[in-house]
Amino acid sequence: MTVVLKLGGSVITDKDDPETVDRAALSAAVSAIAESPVGEDIVIVHGGGSFGHHHAADYGVSTTEGTHDVDGVQAIHGAMCRLNAAVVDALSEAGVPAVPVHPFSAAARDADGDLSLPTAQVTTLLDEGFVPVLHGDLVAHAGAGATVLSGDELVVELAPAVDADRVGVCSTVPGVLDEDGVVIDRIEAFEAVAPALGGSDATDVSGGMAGKVRALLALSAPALVFGPDALSAFLAGESPGTTIAGDDAD
Ligand code: IPE
Repeated sequence: MTVVLKLGGSVITDKDDPETVDRAALSAAVSAIAESPVGEDIVIVHGGGSFGHHHAADYGVSTTEGTHDVDGVQAIHGAMCRLNAAVVDALSEAGVPAVPVHPFSAAARDADGDLSLPTAQVTTLLDEGFVPVLHGDLVAHAGAGATVLSGDELVVELAPAVDADRVGVCSTVPGVLDEDGVVIDRIEAFEAVAPALGGSDATDVSGGMAGKVRALLALSAPALVFGPDALSAFLAGESPGTTIAGDDAD
């Protein structure tokens, strides 16, 4: 059983307060991971929260709008590395053999925006008993400079590469919500839920919940979107929140 888990940036940071880790939330997530029956068969991806999005907005960078400003690249990538170090340190202190993997050092987008992400380091680290911890980042983008690479895109690339059985997206909400704020149990096509999916309320340069759902529908493993309180249940094999299973999902 291999799991790819995304910890949303809003879960582990105070999204409205620049570069602030939500220590209590990070420590709760880390405990759930450290105590989970999944053990070391897990790849963790975390989002940007208040480390990535504010800097990206300052420099006008998104997944499609790039920058050639080296100060912008250093600000955004540097902030994400600082958050990654905080996550890796917290996991290490809890006994999880976590190691950092920085996507900016490896990935690229071509002029059409198609992503190429080498995954041999992730699969090899996993085979060797490490828990790779990746993060939303910048990516070299042909013709655009550097654009945002979201954690959701990483999850979509990593899940088939590690032959994931389950994908979890731990968000601040208990699942994907319909127009009445009720958790949608299962999503099999984007059109069915498009009207219910508005933008994210805090600054989010990579598409909010609509972007997440679109990306997760492309996976061949079922993906679950759930809130922080349900992380232990997800890792124990339960199906909290919303299950997203596109045409290719088992
Ligand atoms: C964004 O990653 C990374 C940057 C802004 C550089 P995500 O899009 O995965 O982050 P969250 O989870 O929405 O905060």
